[in-house]
Order: sequence, then structure tokens, then C-alpha cells
Amino acid sequence: MKDAYIVQSIRTPGCKQNRGLFKETRPEELLSFILKTAVEKTDGLKPDDLEDVMVGCAFPEGEQGLNIGRVAAKMAGFPDHVSGATVNRFCSSGLEAIALASARVQMGWSDITIGAGVESMTFVPMGGNAPRPHPEYSATNPEMYISMGITAENVANRYNVSREDQDKFAAASQNKAVRARDNGLFTEIIPTPAYKYEKQEDGTYKKIEFIVEHDDGIRASTPEGLAKLGAVFAAGGSVTAANSSQTTDGAAATIVASKEKCDELGLKPIAKLISYTTIGCRSDEMGVGPRYAIPKVLKQAGMTYDQIDIFEINEAFASQALYCIRELGLEKSMDKINIHGGAIALGHPLGCTGAKLTATCLANLKEVKGKYGIVAMCIGGGMGAAAIFEMV
Ligand SMILES: CC(C)(COP(=O)(O)OP(=O)(O)OC[C@H]1O[C@@H](n2cnc3c(N)ncnc32)[C@H](O)[C@@H]1OP(=O)(O)O)[C@@H](O)C(=O)NCCC(=O)NCCS
Repeated sequence: MKDAYIVQSIRTPGCKQNRGLFKETRPEELLSFILKTAVEKTDGLKPDDLEDVMVGCAFPEGEQGLNIGRVAAKMAGFPDHVSGATVNRFCSSGLEAIALASARVQMGWSDITIGAGVESMTFVPMGGNAPRPHPEYSATNPEMYISMGITAENVANRYNVSREDQDKFAAASQNKAVRARDNGLFTEIIPTPAYKYEKQEDGTYKKIEFIVEHDDGIRASTPEGLAKLGAVFAAGGSVTAANSSQTTDGAAATIVASKEKCDELGLKPIAKLISYTTIGCRSDEMGVGPRYAIPKVLKQAGMTYDQIDIFEINEAFASQALYCIRELGLEKSMDKINIHGGAIALGHPLGCTGAKLTATCLANLKEVKGKYGIVAMCIGGGMGAAAIFEMV
């Protein structure tokens, strides 16, 4: 197998669905911007050198349909020979795209491939614009289609994750993010162009362009403040707007190249994907996924927990993230987990998340001078995914 090196990994900020700064910016633009910028920022690389763009998207329809991988590659100005695909494994789609890009390079089927992710939850909400569950199957298996919030309630109830602990975890995520933003630690973020349409006095609309520099859902929080919020998914439940991930718009990209191509173009390797895995679990408690995916990927790689310097465990909900951390015996390692906050503060743009967390993981490994990082998440339908990256 060939060596596949990551030579670039960046993301846009994450902005709140419907209310955030990207609410009028189309997903193709977020994605094509980050693809183009990833190439421009990589010394020695030109669009002509690229072969393929693999894009994770959890609801690839509407504005992010029609194979957004190919559409965005063209919009980024990449030449005709750069092909494009869209990959869907719900919340791990972006990680799946990076794993596929790496696998192609490792197999010798490509020399340079981009693995990316995009989701505008404003343009295409979770569930899609026209969900059509199978009528007979959904009648007997409703758990395949239930709200993700209910799966989070199930995890909290079945495994005794208290409301108090969820709120403490959520406030910590927010406060870590405040600190990181204020200290300029989100080095993986690229200030991203956005636009909005403002109504003029004569009734016409004017396009106003501006730059977004930060994740816009970060807010300093206290557990006591969060304790005042009501449950949003189940009466008498414990899952609230503040201890759930935010629904978000964003895009991210990672460029993977063979050793030969790095040598030829003088590209500087940053990291490599050591191992990637997915695993299924019960649909009605999909949040437990990382509890199974993380040990599986470590075993696959012949590695142990103490070798890992940074964990990016997606905070779909505080209940499931906390459950997985506890079951994996990682409570003693909180200083290595989501060190600059997670999706509760920074947002969870579904299909983009795996690509976004990869960029964050590599930036955080660089910051702490660490060697190995894990990116993991739970996945709707009942799955977990995990990947190990090594800095080189
Ligand atoms: C939970 C959910 C429904 C909340 O949606 P929302 O109402 O748009 O959430 P908001 O972030 O706007 O918060 C609503 C209100 O809660 C309160 N709130 C939220 N976070 C808060 C915080 N950290 N501190 C204080 N108040 C907070 C505020 O009153 C806020 O209103 P405001 O912003 O106008 O002050 C939505 O975020 C969601 O569906 N999350 C899960 C997504 C999901 O399932 N992803 C897939 C996982 S597999």
C-alpha cells in the first residue's frame, strides 16, 4: 500500500441554521470557496494537479444536490479533468470522504484527491425537503426514522446521564470555545465570503457581501444558566437547546496526496490517516456509536488510548458524548477531548462535520505538539465512525 499524506486541512466557520451569517449563502459557494482556498494555500499545488473531489453531504438534495462534488469542483475553477462525487453516511460523511480519498491514494488509484464536506442546514433541513419513510417498514420499525433528539433522551435515560451532567458538559464546551476564539486558536478556520440580500427603498434587493471569521453560535454559558432551559424533544426530558449540537451551515476540505506527488511538487505532508472504521448499533440509541467505533479503530491500528493526544468526539448531544466518554474510561482524559469545544458550541453541519473535525483535530495536534488524534462521531440510523490521524 502507498503512503497517503494530508497536505492541507481547513474549514469555514460554522454558522447557525436560519439565523446565522451563512443563512443566505448557498452551499455550493461555501464548498467551492473552501476547495479553491485549500489548493491556493498549498504551496506547489495547482488545480491542474488534482484528480478528484469527494464530498460528504448528509442531505444531498435541493441546492446541495445534483452531485455537489462535481458542481463545486467546477465552481472552484478546477479544470474539466477533475472529477467529483458526493458521499453520504449522514454525520460521518465528511470523514468518509477523507477516508475514501486516502484509500484511493493508498491503492495507487489516484495521486491527489480532495476529501471534503458541506452542509447548509438552512437550505436543506435535517430530514430533507421531502422525507418519505417506507410506509410498511416505518410502521414496524419507527426507530429508524425517529428524531435524533429522542435517541439522545434514550441514551440519557437508559445509561443514567443526568440533566445536571449534560448541562455541565455543554457549558464547558461553550466556555472552551469562547477561550479558543478569543485567543485565536481556531487556526483551521478560513475567513469566508458570505452574502445577504437587503431590501431597498424602491422594493428591489441588493446583494451585500461580507466576510465571516468566526463560528457564530458560541456563547459563554454556566451550568446554572443552562439548567433553566426546558427540554425540547420530550416532555419531562433532559435534552435542551443548549445541551444539543447546533444545527449549522459550513464546509471543510482536506487534500490527500501520494508520497511520489508530494516529492514531485514539493508538497509538505502534515499528517496521514492511519485507520478508519464504522460500526452499527441500535437505531434508537444511535449516540452510543463512538463507544464501539473508537475501540474498534484502535484495535485495527494496534494502538492504545494512552497514545492518543487529541480526541475530537462529535457532540451531537451532551448525553451521548458523555456516555461514550464514560464507557471508554476517558473521563480522566478530558484535557485531551474537544479541547476547543465541540458541536454544542461550534455547530454540527451534518455531512461537513467529519471533514470539519479532521481540520480541527490536525490544528489541535499541531497546537499541543501531539502525534496521534482520533476523530469520532455517532451517526443517524444507528452507527459510529472513528479515524486515527498521525502527524508527520
Ligand atoms: C435542539 C434544537 C432543536 C434547538 O434549536 P433552536 O431552538 O434553533 O436552538 P437555539 O440555539 O436557537 O436556542 C434556542 C434558545 O435556547 C436558549 N439557549 C440555547 N443555548 C443556550 C446557551 N448556551 N445559553 C443560554 N441559553 C441558550 C436561548 O434562549 C435560545 O434562544 P436565543 O438564541 O434567541 O437566546 C436544535 O439545535 C437541534 O435540533 N439540535 C440537534 C441537531 C441534531 O439532531 N443533529 C444530528 C445529531 S445526530
